[in-house]
Amino acid sequence: MKQKSYYEVIYLELDIEVSSSKTIGEYMSRTYKIAAIPGDGTGAEVLNEGKKVLEATASKFGFGLDLVEFDFGGDRYLRTGEILPDSAVNELKTFDAIYLGAIGHPDVKPGILEKGILLRLRFELDQYINLRPIRLYPGVETPLKNKGPNEIDFVVVRENTGGIYTGVGGISMKGTEHETAVQSMVYNRFQVERCLRYAFDYTRRHGKKACGRGTANTLGLVGKTNVLTHVFDLWERVFHELGESDYLDIKREYYHVDAACMWMVKNPEWFDVLVTCNMFGDIITDLGAMAQGGMGIAAGGNISPKGVSMFEPIGGSAPKYTGMGIINPLASIAAGSMMLDTLGEYKAAEAIEKAVIVVTSTKIKSLEAGKMGYSTCEVGDLVVEEI
Ligand code: IPM
Ligand code: MN
Repeated sequence: MKQKSYYEVIYLELDIEVSSSKTIGEYMSRTYKIAAIPGDGTGAEVLNEGKKVLEATASKFGFGLDLVEFDFGGDRYLRTGEILPDSAVNELKTFDAIYLGAIGHPDVKPGILEKGILLRLRFELDQYINLRPIRLYPGVETPLKNKGPNEIDFVVVRENTGGIYTGVGGISMKGTEHETAVQSMVYNRFQVERCLRYAFDYTRRHGKKACGRGTANTLGLVGKTNVLTHVFDLWERVFHELGESDYLDIKREYYHVDAACMWMVKNPEWFDVLVTCNMFGDIITDLGAMAQGGMGIAAGGNISPKGVSMFEPIGGSAPKYTGMGIINPLASIAAGSMMLDTLGEYKAAEAIEKAVIVVTSTKIKSLEAGKMGYSTCEVGDLVVEEI
């Protein structure tokens, strides 16, 4: 067995979580610098509750949070014409993580803020993984008949900076009857390999066997090898090459994306960890979000494994509920838990998730805005009480 390092020994004696990236001095006085971007619509309301929960968790688990707020979003754009200045991108690179509310404003043409803020940060901070757990918490209703928390519990690893999203293509002869639009799905081996490696490693640590929920850790590739014979030939070859060379302990499966949608509804219990391209990942994770009870609970992480990651509720800005205090903040709170997990605060992250489960199973009536039986702020308070 590998000799334990000096720090690991001290951590064990103190009974605190081993985090190899920190020295003991750093561990004892650790403070995380978090950039909070409320964004548009209900983003600010849900992020406030998330911040409240994070602060309560930090004081309980003995770490500090230095939250700095940035006002990027539709209102600022309409007021000043500025979307996201280069200087801000550079500043954001100095933070430990980014905590995002929502992007999308009813008075701004679709695409401007999404591309200018969300996608730009994903690209420039190299957040090449989008991690989306699909987990039905106890007490939450799913539209899938006869399925419960044991059946709906898997994770999608979505490639997050390549594919159709890079905008390779163009439009020519616009406005004529011959106008032609092209938008290509472009992937290189480097992008595919790093995403697959992340997914294999993730499966090894968080798969069903690793979590004591099954007999194997299984990674399923979701593609379309029967039609997209170039791009998914690459994905499939690299998937099996890596599986054979470095991940023989991980069971491999393959699903066409259309079939994967079918099974997500009919047999979600088949899935453990799924990995897929950017576009398919975008689509299947909204399907997954509904299976886990809706946008009120679905959280996601834009992960830059060696850089600055960004965490968000995936539901969008819900303009029609803005300022009413009725939107569900649990997705934002769950995104905060993912953020702490990524920062190495495993116990604190788990404490938030457990508190969310108490709230879903014993407190709130429904996840839907206005039907929770509590206001946005009260739901945040309920989670804080549990922590
Ligand atoms: C998501 C969103 C974004 C995406 C939009 C807002 C650009 O739908 O995070 O899934 O397509 O990635
Ligand atoms: Mn989406």
